[in-house]
Amino acid sequence: MTIPFRAVLLRLSLSAALLPVLGPVGCSRDTRPTKTIATIDELPEGVRAAVLASRDLELGFAVYSRNCVGCHGINGDGQGPAAERLVIRPRDFTAKVIIDPNTGVPSVEGGDFKFRSTPNGQLPLDEDLHRTIRQGLKGSSMPSFEFLPERERSAVIAFIKLYSPRWTLATEVRERVPLPASEPADLLTEERVWLGRFAYVGMGCQMCHGMTGRGDGSSAHTLLDDWEQPVRPYNYHRGAPKGGATPLDIYRTFRTGVTPMPSYQSDTLGLVTRDLKGMVFSRLHEEEQSLIEPFVDLLPTLEEVTAWKTAAPERYESYSDERAWDLVAYTLWLREQSKPEGERAAAIWPRRGEGE
Ligand code: HEC
Ligand code: HEC
Repeated sequence: MTIPFRAVLLRLSLSAALLPVLGPVGCSRDTRPTKTIATIDELPEGVRAAVLASRDLELGFAVYSRNCVGCHGINGDGQGPAAERLVIRPRDFTAKVIIDPNTGVPSVEGGDFKFRSTPNGQLPLDEDLHRTIRQGLKGSSMPSFEFLPERERSAVIAFIKLYSPRWTLATEVRERVPLPASEPADLLTEERVWLGRFAYVGMGCQMCHGMTGRGDGSSAHTLLDDWEQPVRPYNYHRGAPKGGATPLDIYRTFRTGVTPMPSYQSDTLGLVTRDLKGMVFSRLHEEEQSLIEPFVDLLPTLEEVTAWKTAAPERYESYSDERAWDLVAYTLWLREQSKPEGERAAAIWPRRGEGE
């Protein structure tokens, strides 16, 4: 059920108290699974041999068997004893490498990860795995392992890599997508939030996430992830995003994608121009149109932006980047609005021109 945006708008006054800086969400719930009794002998042959040959991997296995095996399984295939009770299935860490008999070129099947600083389809960086394990994945049963010392997290990361031959394949590349070091100083402004709303509808985010971000768009019930499991779009009103809740985390998730959500690059972000006004406004209530209009009217036309693509590529990139940040601002703002009034942060978002 979609709640008419008009009704939401009444509660969403921009003068309301809002959160200026959203730090990483705390991980207070202790969801540590109980100790299991998996032993080295139960490991698949190749994995066992590697563990027996290395002190670090032995530590990695000890950490895994205490904390992960109940869900991810002794075979690393996501089929631990607790897995069948979980709606969102634990990750299957295994992969198959198939060598083409004619060309000798290997192709891989499986072993994918959702949360990466690398493009869709590539393996994540170690720092991505550290983040996932440290923070957990909100909205799924994957707990936070903040309590593990860094050394144990590194050891368990090295250990889970043993389940997939992809990690040692020479053809696998891990290229960090260009990510900024910090968010723009003017992130939380009225202008960005409304341009973010404009981009959200202009880019069709509502088809999956719904007009008000409740994860109830028209395609929401038909989506499958990389493992062919049904997956629901993120509900902006319920808890933190899995990949992290800071502005930079959300920016990274947009830019790298989470199948079935595409990754958003400049070729799509650069289409968010004044030309979309008619299309977007036909979907918005009048009150919302009047809030957005002053900002949209200042956007360039598609013709102008397209011309930058060849004449001024840097300008084009920075324009698309601004539109990505608008979406981040809108995401943060919607999340904040969904909190009961008393729980919203005390500070207000700086108005246009007043930001530090
Ligand atoms: C209570 C069950 C549970 C436990 C215990 C658990 N996980 Fe997970 N884990 C999950 C689920 C469920 C997912 C998939 C979430 C999703 O796809 O949204 C997941 C996903 C992952 C991912 C993939 C993230 C990505 O980018 O795709 C990694 C890596 C991971 N877990 C590592 C670990 C490690 C290491 C441990 C132990 C230290 C552990 N997990 C313990 C349930 C669990
Ligand atoms: C094809 C459907 C689809 C479209 C289009 C789509 N998303 Fe998503 N989005 C998803 C799904 C499904 C997830 C949840 C993935 C998961 O939990 O594994 C998601 C997750 C997210 C998340 C949370 C990520 C996290 O770390 O948990 C955000 C934020 C988000 N989408 C924003 C957007 C925005 C903004 C747009 C438009 C530019 C968009 N999405 C377009 C399907 C879509």
